[in-house]
Amino acid sequence: MSTLNLQAANVLVVGAGIMGAGIAQVAALAGHHVFLHDAREGAAQEAKDQLSVALHVLVSKGKLQHDDVEAALTRITPISALRYGKTATLVVEAIVENLDVKRKLFAELEALLPEDAVLATNTSSISVTALANGLKRPERLVGMHFFNPVPLMKLVEVVSGLHTAPEVAEAIFTLAQSWGKTAVHAKSTPGFIVNRIARPYYAETLALLAEQAVSPQVADACLRSVGFRMGPCELMDLIGHDTNFAVTRSVYEANFYDKRYVPSGVQRDLVDGGLLGRKSGRGFYRYPQSEADKAV
Ligand code: NAI
Repeated sequence: MSTLNLQAANVLVVGAGIMGAGIAQVAALAGHHVFLHDAREGAAQEAKDQLSVALHVLVSKGKLQHDDVEAALTRITPISALRYGKTATLVVEAIVENLDVKRKLFAELEALLPEDAVLATNTSSISVTALANGLKRPERLVGMHFFNPVPLMKLVEVVSGLHTAPEVAEAIFTLAQSWGKTAVHAKSTPGFIVNRIARPYYAETLALLAEQAVSPQVADACLRSVGFRMGPCELMDLIGHDTNFAVTRSVYEANFYDKRYVPSGVQRDLVDGGLLGRKSGRGFYRYPQSEADKAV
């Protein structure tokens, strides 16, 4: 197996939402030049501005050095069109959780980037094998699945589909480690490892809520008090209900509509109502969270 080294790669992060912004931060702090692109005009620059604020808070708390933060910020370039990132040899895609939209993006990227570029997807649930189908170089596509919030969560699942070249998965594994992450190899099965295990956790919470057997506050307080860092409702608010619902549907379909994975009407109502969680200002809770919301 030949070795592929991505340590000096210019990184193109596509999607400047919750995950893309975090990935850009981690890559830039690790020394990479990062192009950040989002389909929504101005979103990449907004994400960089928010990162700047968050990183300077960490400087004021003594957790990061001022010069390191300034250097990392100068390495992040928001770009209004993908073509401005065409020198990248690693893409990390973090756009909407939709197979067709992601496939279209990868076809476009493949035509634009150097032949040896690695195409990594941060998908939570979509088959890496299916995403690679139709590409000229499907062996270059691999899952690089981060967890939310990216700068804090250590785990990265390196997901190999049927086409993925072993040296590509290995290069992403090594890169994730060099970014301070704990990497684990996973296969492109529905939900990979963590999301497969976590689906029933969310599903049972949503079932309890639908039965009005518990409130979000009580569910969260219970799970926290048995040692979880966050309760299930606050975690779903953090993930974003649109993304979490898309993942649930994708895992359900991929398991041939096994009723263990059936999506919840509670989740659908939140999405239909635009109550997406933290990112929209309201989900199970309102943000910023009030003391009344926290009360049990
Ligand atoms: P988000 O909704 O916060 O951000 C997605 C961004 O992608 C938006 O800013 C949107 O404008 C942009 N976008 C949509 N289509 C695009 C396109 N064709 N080209 C460029 N930009 C486009 O979503 P989030 O939460 O960051 O999720 C992104 C990906 O990461 C999804 O695949 C999701 O499943 C995955 N993921 C999400 C986690 C979470 O906790 N939210 C955890 C791990 C993975």
